[in-house]
Amino acid sequence: MKHCTAWILTAFVVVSANNALAAEGDAKRGGKPYRACVACHSLKPGVHLTGPSLAGLWRHPAGKVKEFVRYSSGLKSADFRWDADTLNAWLADPNAMVPGTYMIFRGIENDQARSDLIAFLEIAMAPGGAKAVVHQGLMPSEHARGQQPESLSGAPENAQVSSIRHCADSYFITTADGRQTPYWEMNVRLKVDSRSTGPAPGQPVVAGAGMMGDRISVIFSSLDELKQLVEDKC
Ligand code: HEC
Repeated sequence: MKHCTAWILTAFVVVSANNALAAEGDAKRGGKPYRACVACHSLKPGVHLTGPSLAGLWRHPAGKVKEFVRYSSGLKSADFRWDADTLNAWLADPNAMVPGTYMIFRGIENDQARSDLIAFLEIAMAPGGAKAVVHQGLMPSEHARGQQPESLSGAPENAQVSSIRHCADSYFITTADGRQTPYWEMNVRLKVDSRSTGPAPGQPVVAGAGMMGDRISVIFSSLDELKQLVEDKC
């Protein structure tokens, strides 16, 4: 019996040592796999894109960033903290860890790339992480910021919308330079950008939504403004 216990203990130590080895990541290399995250995440506190800001989440409970209101029910009700082990499972296959998650990401299969990324995240997700990773040369500052949409204030006249009406299957959009352009209704996206860098109140702007020029996005500063400014009139 004694012999058996010793054997189990030895096996346990060997397995643990292997895990430790697998977890040996290089934060410097981890900046590269992190590029897959910047479209959806910022490291700056309070900057939420498709996904929540990752600022300060290391060792913090999952799914609990207060101002982020788009969590899946699975992540919102999760009861664990972000550390090397939980991130390892999440980044290998988010949907296997939290079924039904809204993080549409197929996962990182390569063990070494995942370990490197986690070593990077240990710095990036600590308080002050956005500055630390840039300061330590792990990543350029635009990646720390995440791919935030451009600021919409100060748009030129031909991008400022003065009126917008819907008639039959079309929108007729007039810009501040006096030009009116018709668009097929299916090619127009009406959006709201409530960030401080969004359009000024009362001054919606247009942004091309495709390469062809026959598609367009109109961006309002609030939903109220959208309701008020779009009229049904032929
Ligand atoms: C296509 C957009 C997208 C990409 C790419 C993406 N994420 Fe996410 N991420 C999300 C969304 C959306 C959520 C919220 C998921 C939910 O509520 O189920 C999330 C949640 C998270 C969380 C949990 C946050 C919390 O508050 O608990 C972490 C950690 C995370 N992502 C890390 C990463 C990392 C690291 C990468 C890059 C390898 C990455 N994500 C790539 C969209 C994305």
